[in-house]
Formats: sequence, C-alpha cells, structure tokens
Amino acid sequence: GAAVEVDISALKPGEKMTAEWRGKPVWIVKRTPEQLADLPTIDSQLADPKSERKPNEFTPVYARNGHRSIKPEIFVAVGICTHLGCSPSDKFVTGAQPSLPADWKGGFLCPCHGSTFDMAGRVFKNKPAPDNLEVPPHMYLSDSKLLIG
Ligand code: FES
Repeated sequence: GAAVEVDISALKPGEKMTAEWRGKPVWIVKRTPEQLADLPTIDSQLADPKSERKPNEFTPVYARNGHRSIKPEIFVAVGICTHLGCSPSDKFVTGAQPSLPADWKGGFLCPCHGSTFDMAGRVFKNKPAPDNLEVPPHMYLSDSKLLIG
C-alpha cells in the first residue's frame, strides 16, 4: 500500500501540516470557526463553488459539501496548483493585500501565475487554475489518526 498514516493530534486551529503521499505534498489544515463560517459567503467569487467539475478526479463523494471535507474543521488537499503544478503558499491572513481578491478571507496563493484558492481549496474565478485543489482519498482511523490513500 501506498497509503500514509498521519497523526494529527498536535494540529491546532489555524494551523497546517504537510504529509507526503505518492511523492505529493498533502496539506492537513485545521480551520477556525471563523474560517468555516466565511466559506459560504464567497461562493459567487469562485469558479466551481460546489466542486461539480470533474468530481471523480478532484473531490471524492464524502468531500462534496460546502467545506470539502469529512470533518468540517479538517481540510485535506493535495498542495499542488491545478494549473501547471506549482505549490501554492499559505495566505491565511484576512483583509486586502496586493495580488489577492478584494475582501480576501484567507486561503492559498500560487506564486507562479497568481491563482488564488479559498480555505476549502476552491479556485477563484478568472484565474489560470481551472479546478479546485484535489482532495485525495482519505479516511479517519480515529479522532487523531488520518489515513491518506
Ligand atoms: Fe499555479 Fe499557474 S501553476 S497559477
């Protein structure tokens, strides 16, 4: 098996850890209540807010919901931009910043061509990346143990 077991017990709200699965970085982000509450408020700014494009490739059935995850607070995604494969950086901070959409609520910015993703890895409209970040196959073995793959 190529599956990877990850202990997430030390992850605190607002933090991200990175695991490796099949040579790819997999992010595990524990979202704060505020970050979760912001998700439905920006749907109109996103290219595919409900993850309906290529669901079998990018969003497993158990993540086809408003937070794109099994547990609402824990977001698991492959940290590779769906444009040309760069690695987006964390922009968890909110508020106006150069190169980020107005009314930015936090998420990820790809340094290569400026694609922006929200805290559920959903890509903003009119950006080069066509798809939301990939949610890899995963499941919970316990509250603190995640199995990726
Ligand atoms: Fe991310 Fe082009 S590789 S925007």
